[in-house]
Parts: sequence; structure tokens; C-alpha cells
Amino acid sequence: MSKVLKEKDYLNKFLLGRCEEVMKQLPDESVDLVVTSPPYNLRNSTGNGMKDGRGGKWANAALIKGYADAEYNDNIPHEEYVAWQRACLTEMMRVVRPDGAIFYNHKWRVQGGLLQDRADIVAGFPVRQVIIWKRKGGINFNKGYFLPTYEVIYLIAKKDFVLAKGANSHGDIWEFGQEQKNEHPAPFPVALIHRVISSTNAKIVLDPFMGSGTTAIAATMLERNFIGIDLSEKYIEMAKDRLRHFKAERKTSSVGKRQEGLFD
Ligand SMILES: C[S@@+](CC[C@H](N)C(=O)[O-])C[C@H]1O[C@@H](n2cnc3c(N)ncnc32)[C@H](O)[C@@H]1O
Repeated sequence: MSKVLKEKDYLNKFLLGRCEEVMKQLPDESVDLVVTSPPYNLRNSTGNGMKDGRGGKWANAALIKGYADAEYNDNIPHEEYVAWQRACLTEMMRVVRPDGAIFYNHKWRVQGGLLQDRADIVAGFPVRQVIIWKRKGGINFNKGYFLPTYEVIYLIAKKDFVLAKGANSHGDIWEFGQEQKNEHPAPFPVALIHRVISSTNAKIVLDPFMGSGTTAIAATMLERNFIGIDLSEKYIEMAKDRLRHFKAERKTSSVGKRQEGLFD
């Protein structure tokens, strides 16, 4: 059995490791909200180029190179991937309080000419709503279907979860452009996560696939606590650096406060 961490060892900290293991060290019902985007298993694809890693027409897509330092190659058999994601979601459900929720971002895609939604991953979890994150543009060289321009965010809510006052007026289609200045291959836009967190009353926000630390930045802007997990040392360092810079800038030039104003 894993050792359970004390709050001082995980609150506002970046934890290095596989989240399915690290989450086991968090106490039951210890977080209010999970916001996360797992690797999409993009290189396990029937599509040209993304499958074998050479890229083909996708060669310029940042993710074709995969994640940092080959810790994670984003290419595992589909059934294994689904079982892994379901195990992660099960741990997230355990650590979320009875009035908490999980915002689980994923992408639907076409595989072998048919839509692959993510119903197999979320089946049996209490999905309350699907939010459409409309991105700007996209890449598609396939003449068989229209250019995909959105991702989905599953709102998986425990029974007593309610939104913050006034937040339901955002509706369920959110338009946010991609993050431009970030070396991580698949970062969230800060504004998207600011929207999620500010739509809740959460005091403690967990991102088990934290990447470059976007959830930590948005939580800090909103004066909430965060817990970030990633298996890549490189991304953990990137996230720490980013948060340090954000805090320093906010202190000296109130940029953080101005940025936050832009997201309201
Ligand atoms: C889609 S990215 C998340 C990006 C993040 N939302 C951001 O804004 O930068 C997925 C992340 O999951 C990490 N990852 C892959 N397998 C993992 C695992 N088993 N446990 C924790 N992190 C993992 C990768 O290193 C990658 O940074």
C-alpha cells in the first residue's frame, strides 16, 4: 500500500512520477477539482505519418516528435490506453470530494474512416456534460471529412457539484485559441483553464497530467491551491520555472492581474 502524503508535501507542489501511482499517495476526498488533459495516444493512429513518427504531411505538428525525452511515446495499444485512462479516472474520482468534479479534456478523431469518440474511456463515470472547446483552425489532409476544429471537455461531476454563481451563463461551447508561446507540445491555453477554475468554488485543484504547469498558473492567478503531477522531469522544471516567472512578474508589474482581467 502507498504511503499517504501530508498536505504540506503536496499542496502547491509539482510531483514527479506516473500519476496513476502518485495519486495513490493523496488522501481520499482531498481535492475539490481536477482539470486535466492526458496524452491522446496520437501516435497509435491509423492516419498517415502520426503512426510511425516520421510525420508525413504532419511533420510540422509539434506532437509528432512526441513528449520530452521519450519518457512517454504516446503510442500504446488502444485497449491498453483505455484501461490506463480508466484507472487514472478511478483514482481522480477517489481523491475528489463529494461536491467536486473532473474536467477531462480529450479529442475525438477519425480512425479507419470512423469516428472514434472517447465513450469507452468515460463509460460508467458520472459524465454530466460535454463542453466543446472550439479551437482556431486545425490540420486535416483527409478529403473524407471536414476539418476538425474542436476538442471536448467532459464534465464528470460528483452528485453535489454546483458551478460558481453566474458561471452557467458561459454556455457549453467555449472558443479559445491555442497557446502560442510555450515549448510544451500540447499546452492548454491559460484562458481556458482560468475559465474552468473560475467557474467553480474549488480551493484545491489537481492536474495529474500537468505538463508545462498551465493549471498551476491559472489556479495561482485565482488564488486557489494546486497539485501538479507529471512523469517528465523536463516538464516539471518547465512548470516550476513558468510559475516562478508568473509570480515575479505579477509582483513587479501586475501583469498577472491585467492578464486575469482579460479572461473575465
Ligand atoms: C497533453 S499533455 C498536458 C499538457 C498540459 N495541459 C499543459 O498545459 O502543458 C500530457 C502530459 O502528460 C504527461 N504524462 C504522460 N504519461 C504520464 C503519466 N503516466 N503520469 C503523469 N504524467 C504523464 C506528459 O509528460 C505530458 O506532459
